[in-house]
Amino acid sequence: MKALVLAGGSGSRLRPITHTSAKQLVPVANKPVLFYGLESIAEAGIREVGVVVGDTAPEIQAAVGDGSAFGLQVTYLRQEAPLGLAHALLISRDYLGDDDFVMYLGDNFIVGGIKEIVDQFAAERRTSDVAARIMLTRVSDPRAFGVAELDEQGRVVRLEEKPSEPKSDLALVGVYLFSPAVHPFVERLKPSRRGELEITEAIQGMLDAGLPVHSTVISGYWKDTGNVTDMLEVNRLVLESLEPARHGEVTDSELIGRVRVEAGAAVHGCRIVGPVVIGSGSVLRDSYVGPFTSIDRDCRVTDSEIEYSIVLRGASISGVRRIESSLIGREVRITPAPSVPRAHRLVLGDHSQVQISG
Ligand code: DAU
Repeated sequence: MKALVLAGGSGSRLRPITHTSAKQLVPVANKPVLFYGLESIAEAGIREVGVVVGDTAPEIQAAVGDGSAFGLQVTYLRQEAPLGLAHALLISRDYLGDDDFVMYLGDNFIVGGIKEIVDQFAAERRTSDVAARIMLTRVSDPRAFGVAELDEQGRVVRLEEKPSEPKSDLALVGVYLFSPAVHPFVERLKPSRRGELEITEAIQGMLDAGLPVHSTVISGYWKDTGNVTDMLEVNRLVLESLEPARHGEVTDSELIGRVRVEAGAAVHGCRIVGPVVIGSGSVLRDSYVGPFTSIDRDCRVTDSEIEYSIVLRGASISGVRRIESSLIGREVRITPAPSVPRAHRLVLGDHSQVQISG
């Protein structure tokens, strides 16, 4: 079995972060979200992985390389424009050949990995004519997802992409298992209302043709990390099982709970309440860092308070209290304004979002 990982797309809901970098590389507990997916593919025993890339190809390639760091053989497949999940599959046709494959959306995060479902599909392919297996989970607002309707026996009867009036609360999770039977259904798709070739419609085509499409409803944790709220929530979840360590320098500080100070990081005169991870090269001084915060490499936090946030590489925060529920981009500078006149002075990139208190 092969894997097809989708790491193209535009990431509009994570702007402005995605103006300058790929959404699949935004770090969760200081590790790109895409790496968790690649690790779970390797853990499922798959070696050959096609990674679909778009405009951010150089950055994805620099991060993932030839895949050997994950025990994978990665082949990059260039998608000229983000024309849909099924379009990504279409351009990967030669790479996939006649193999079964798992399609994994590079911004999805699945706790517990995919080994069980991959093994299950491989086993049922040996003994039946199953054509696909999809993963579903219950969500509170299904309108942002592909939505499945099941019959009384739990068989999939209909799928709809981002319906305004969802027929159920079962959302399609971004992991799909396919036999090569999917390809003809992808080839005959027409662009949807949003101008994309929808994988949801290809699977509906398989259902209409009477091909067996099985489903697994997962109760474990799943998030599409396409927006900031979900990103912070996934960060919280991963930090909950953080391995505490003090590899860096810690002086005059109080570290409570799971706190990981990487080698080359320095913490002076701080109170840090875990779970918190501090990347190498970062220096924290006279500050409070509260639970569920990830501070990436080479950051500076001085005389500030921050909690439940993700701070990307090279950012600097000084004299600010308090920052909460925030995603702070690479090389961002946050400083206090001079006290007179009382005014906010902002230099914000396109599509930035700022909430100012007081
Ligand atoms: O996350 C689950 C949802 O993913 C499903 O419930 C939906 O049925 C499915 O259509 C998909 O919806 P999204 O709108 O969230 O997909 P998004 O555009 O965010 O793309 C998912 C990943 O695939 C993301 O890492 C970017 C990548 N991608 C996307 C497109 C449209 C590509 O590589 N190429 C593309 O053309």
